[in-house]
Amino acid sequence: MTAETTIVTSIAELRATLDAERAAGRSVGFVPTMGYLHDGHGSLIEAAAAANDVTFVSIFVNPLQFAPGEDLEAYPRDLEADAALSVAAGAALIFAPSVEEMYPEPILTSVHVNTVSDPLEGRHRPTHFDGVSTVVSKLFAIAGPCRAYFGEKDWQQLAIVRRMASDLSFPVEVVGCPIVREPDGLAMSSRNVYLTSEERTQALVLNQALRHGIELIEAGERDPDIVERVVSAMIETQPAAEIDYVGVVDAMTLLEPAPLAGEVRLLTATRFGKARLLDNMGVVVPD
Ligand code: PAF
Repeated sequence: MTAETTIVTSIAELRATLDAERAAGRSVGFVPTMGYLHDGHGSLIEAAAAANDVTFVSIFVNPLQFAPGEDLEAYPRDLEADAALSVAAGAALIFAPSVEEMYPEPILTSVHVNTVSDPLEGRHRPTHFDGVSTVVSKLFAIAGPCRAYFGEKDWQQLAIVRRMASDLSFPVEVVGCPIVREPDGLAMSSRNVYLTSEERTQALVLNQALRHGIELIEAGERDPDIVERVVSAMIETQPAAEIDYVGVVDAMTLLEPAPLAGEVRLLTATRFGKARLLDNMGVVVPD
């Protein structure tokens, strides 16, 4: 099978193909992406291919989730390399629609997931998650019954998509997959290509600072403000780092528990030059 033969660009053709697979008794795995795939996406595709009979990857740079002035035009794209990586990781099909196919006229519908969308990323990119929830709803409606795989690197996105799929009764099982890191600890991201080599070295502080924060909690710290201050101070030792947020929140509701309790997630978005990097780590706080 060549990469070219696997690419579908029309919604009707994708639906017909997936319906035929299900009618033949085969289960469908779905990995939604914006392309420029790396090994982190590869691990999602492998997980989907291992658990389902047929796996498809969507590649669509969704304009709705970019605010004016963000990197929509500059967002890296390489469909040929994406197709090769997807097929090598076990995908049978790639869905790569045009903007016109997805949004033939200006979309008047917007999906908003209350509460979970509001803090952290939601405060810094107020229109972002509605764009994500809207396109993921549309992709779920197109895909039909399936298992859909999302990376934990976008932890808040994963929590929102889980809640949305449950609230709106999509016939989709949302599966979260662990962050894939470079050997030196940097979380893999399509936006890492924006880093200069000096910024890339400095960005290693994110993994180190989050790990330190988790160790503080494991050692008994229960005040979220203290954890956030210590982690922020460590990130700020790097001159290129500009923190958007450091937060420690309940892993599912994204609300800040004080004192820390249950399953919590420590998250940051920090800019290094042109790259805005997300990273996070979790811990279950012992009673
Ligand atoms: O995580 C992403 O790549 C995107 O936000 C997603 C889920 C594919 C929606 O455009």
